[in-house]
Amino acid sequence: MNDLNVIVDSAQTAFAQAVTPADLENAKALFLGKSGRITELMKGMAALSVDEKKSRGAAINIAKQAIETALTNRRQALADAELQAQLRAEALDVSLPGRQRGQGGLHPVSLTLERIEAIFGSMGFDVAQGPEIESDWFNFTALNTPEDHPARSMHDTFYVEGGSETAPNLLRTHTSPMQIRYAVQHVKKYSSKANGGEGKGLFSGDMPEIRVIAPGRTYRVDSDATHSPMFHQCEGLWVGENVSFKDLKFVFTDFCRTFFESDDLVLRFRPSFFPFTEPSAEIDIQFQTGPLAGRWLEVAGSGQVHPNVVSNMGLDPEKYIGFAFGMGPDRLTMLRYGVNDLRLFFDGDVRFLSQFQ
Ligand code: PHE
Repeated sequence: MNDLNVIVDSAQTAFAQAVTPADLENAKALFLGKSGRITELMKGMAALSVDEKKSRGAAINIAKQAIETALTNRRQALADAELQAQLRAEALDVSLPGRQRGQGGLHPVSLTLERIEAIFGSMGFDVAQGPEIESDWFNFTALNTPEDHPARSMHDTFYVEGGSETAPNLLRTHTSPMQIRYAVQHVKKYSSKANGGEGKGLFSGDMPEIRVIAPGRTYRVDSDATHSPMFHQCEGLWVGENVSFKDLKFVFTDFCRTFFESDDLVLRFRPSFFPFTEPSAEIDIQFQTGPLAGRWLEVAGSGQVHPNVVSNMGLDPEKYIGFAFGMGPDRLTMLRYGVNDLRLFFDGDVRFLSQFQ
């Protein structure tokens, strides 16, 4: 091997050993730099004859080109390797499963409320919402509940600061105040039309029937497996000129059969007492099949709207009559899904709640 071949050979080795571009540039300097091996050989030609210069020069040039080629190849190889490494580092593995987003859903009680609204909606009932902080006029007085009624006691009711004739001062203990609120608005609308805007006294003109349900949250000082201080109720009210207890029986029976998707379901109207209805009845249902078969389960309070309450709605009780009921959507949900502790509905445990999706 002549001296030039040795130099080319060692340049190729040095380049091949360079792992980074900086290593490579340093190695390049050893051969092609200002005092590199090739440059030194060129300088050394000064002493040669013209002929010798020609042949030696050509040989050195070939060696130089070989080194430059090796350099270019190695540069390219290092650049490729760097690109590959970067691509590997930044790679997106499209075969990885995506991060799943939990799918939300409606609370079981909300599902029940939607169901109640759909069923009564199909029977021509409007749906109304009212305040949860109520005045004792709407919650008690207007509903014919006297000052000394036990429901008004501090043990049963959450009172809040303030309170006057019109100011709210308690968390409503039932949805029944919505009977008054809704009926008063309804009567105002039609009585002012009939009486040219006067609307004074009790209305005995014509108007479309009042047919409404009012679902929502209610509050009582109560807490155990079947009572929660916050619970849901859904009020129902149907008032017209000829609405009787038999309509209540029909409507409520039809509702229960649709709600529970069962035709063999028996209802019992058990005599009871509410200040705002007369007569009054608790409504019990009995499943004929399934795990609860044979037991009587209370689902609602109900009755014929008391004449004093009809008056407080602004209506003439000689002309208008109807029924009301108040049921417990929490209870209906427990019965429909077989849940035995009411508190599960309000604990917010996803393991429980996700079963209803
Ligand atoms: N408001 C009564 C309760 O909470 C239920 C009820 C409503 C009874 C309407 C009669 C009529 O117990």
